[in-house]
Amino acid sequence: MDAIRHHSFGPPEVLTLEQVPDPTPGPGEVLVDAVAHGVHLLDTSLRRGEDGPPLALPSLPTIPGREIAGTVSDVGPGVDAAWIGRPVAAHLGRVTDGGGYARRVVVGTDKLHVIPDGPDGAPLDPSDAIAMIGTGRMAVYTLDIAAVTAADVVVVTGAAGGLGTLFVQEALNTGARVVALASSLSRLKVLEDLVGLEGAEDGNRFGRLALVDYSAPDWTDTARAALGGARATLVFDGVGGDLGTAATALLVGQGRAGAAGAAGAGGAGAAGDTVSRSVSPPARLVAYGWASGAPNRYTSWADADHVEPPFEVRYAVGPDAPPMPDQRPYQERALARAAAGRWRVATHRVPFAEAARAHRELEERRTTGKVVLV
Ligand SMILES: NC(=O)c1ccc[n+]([C@@H]2O[C@H](COP(=O)([O-])OP(=O)(O)OC[C@H]3O[C@@H](n4cnc5c(N)ncnc54)[C@H](OP(=O)(O)O)[C@@H]3O)[C@@H](O)[C@H]2O)c1
Repeated sequence: MDAIRHHSFGPPEVLTLEQVPDPTPGPGEVLVDAVAHGVHLLDTSLRRGEDGPPLALPSLPTIPGREIAGTVSDVGPGVDAAWIGRPVAAHLGRVTDGGGYARRVVVGTDKLHVIPDGPDGAPLDPSDAIAMIGTGRMAVYTLDIAAVTAADVVVVTGAAGGLGTLFVQEALNTGARVVALASSLSRLKVLEDLVGLEGAEDGNRFGRLALVDYSAPDWTDTARAALGGARATLVFDGVGGDLGTAATALLVGQGRAGAAGAAGAGGAGAAGDTVSRSVSPPARLVAYGWASGAPNRYTSWADADHVEPPFEVRYAVGPDAPPMPDQRPYQERALARAAAGRWRVATHRVPFAEAARAHRELEERRTTGKVVLV
């Protein structure tokens, strides 16, 4: 079968298409002919050979990836043959040698989800389904932690990414106002497509959405203007670094924000006194990653750079996050949201053989939505 492997750690080009033997399902397992394979930012750091949580480096050669969707083509001993022919999606688990970038994958039945029908009555597209298993589940988990309400004014960094597109949609669904941030307005076009432009004058979803390019030098002014003089009450940050810190400073008042972002704990603390008295619902940062490679200074893993936050910080991932519960219920809830049409799924699809290109585009911030090999 076709599989993407790498024999050394390095740039995207170490990923090559190879022929490897078909796997055989054992007891309790099925064989899935996969047609959609989720690609994760974490896959790129494992490929580069960067050790560290949440996964240890694989032994080489390895087949990367942990997320697949396709059709069951065979079953192992003792497994109901009725599985054969069913459209399924599965997360293979928090395993280093995931093996998801392969056209045939053995999966335990406990990990399988039958792909549900979408709003049009046909099964969800396998790429959309795998986006829900791999990234949608994290979105549901993080949204539970955020507890967004209609009264919230929400800021989302990396809003054109796999998670960002879902946070924006759900915050709008809840009735909140949203400022979506990304490194170009063309990248944010994906949100116009997902949210829809119709009826903007009725205060509908699109009317509550502002798109801001945070590569522009004066972007925080633009974002504050979009907030209409209000402070943000909820920031979703998975980018970290200076951008994440500046976005998070939108939780505090103008004038104070500069001090909070640049001058250290004194400025931030002073601003926080104001925030805690005047903002309702409570101002909170939900930290779920650091795509920039650096932490947000308001997160405690920022070490020496850390600025004491004048608002609540809720961690979905990272050293201060609570242990993750079993993710299967979150996978089911994400699939259900896509099936019901509550979430529209944006995917960036790349031919399977071009996995190296998919990694390069992800690292160069040229993808929108969930990256999927097809
Ligand atoms: N998906 C999951 O299941 C999951 C689970 C746990 C944690 N996370 C974390 O959550 C964050 C977002 O994940 P995602 O799946 O939504 O990823 P994604 O689709 O790749 O989106 C990440 C976004 O981060 C921005 N970014 C800023 N600096 C970047 C850099 N140096 N390299 C790459 N992207 C950069 C990019 O948008 P702009 O160019 O517009 O800034 C990009 O759209 C990541 O930190 C990830 O590790 C994800």
